Amino acid sequence: MSGKGMNLTLKIWRQKNAQSKGKMETYNVSGISEHMSFLEMLDVLNEQLINEGTEPVAFDHDCREGICGMCSLYINGEAHGPDRGVTTCQLHMRMFNDGDTIYIEPFRAKAFPVVKDLVVDRSAFDRIQHAGGFVSINTSGNTQDANAIPIPKADADKAFDAATCIGCGACVASCKNASAMLYVSAKVSQFALLPQGKIEAKERVLNMVEQMDEEGFGNCTNTGACEVECPKGISLENIARMNREYLSASITKES
Ligand code: SF4
Ligand code: FES
Repeated sequence: MSGKGMNLTLKIWRQKNAQSKGKMETYNVSGISEHMSFLEMLDVLNEQLINEGTEPVAFDHDCREGICGMCSLYINGEAHGPDRGVTTCQLHMRMFNDGDTIYIEPFRAKAFPVVKDLVVDRSAFDRIQHAGGFVSINTSGNTQDANAIPIPKADADKAFDAATCIGCGACVASCKNASAMLYVSAKVSQFALLPQGKIEAKERVLNMVEQMDEEGFGNCTNTGACEVECPKGISLENIARMNREYLSASITKES
């Protein structure tokens, strides 16, 4: 890289709205510092486009700290780009070289329709969460102190790991079947492992899986791409746990 920063060619998916047919457009940016985040690089491009009187590229972002799960970009054929364990907002331009051509597309899945350019509608995840991703707590003044419920450290750690899922959708975008099993299994597991989650356990797994199927996500064929691309390292072990929970809930429901 020269002292003046990187020159890059960007091939970006542009789509006016959900109804229109999109296409890849080519843009050039220069003077990109290796210390910039990927989204800051897109900010530079958008400033340039605005100055030229061109419509800026729409992309999702909020926290820019790897917390909210909004920044859903497919970069050079990988969800969240070439680095591991990071979201697009945490991806640094030092992962790229001067003169590179970078392909930037929205997450692609039937259940995540494109809204505009790089923005997709991931409300299917919200509806799955609404179907069962909660626990009932007595808030009448008799609430038990959570610390008064003994939980084995190993279970608490696994529940915490599952709860770190930020709902970004990279698992769906990386899966050849556009399956949401890793996401749903993380949401089921974070409660299934804790005593607080036992009350609604059966309805939770049945309702969340039913909603997942209704939303049009594909089936899991154990390819494992989701685990590789997940920025939070959510383990496939959660899918196995969800399958056990689902089977047990289905049998009890029928008997
Ligand atoms: S499981 Fe990982 S990839 Fe999927 S939504 Fe959660 S954090 Fe994102
Ligand atoms: S903008 Fe929040 S995780 Fe990237």
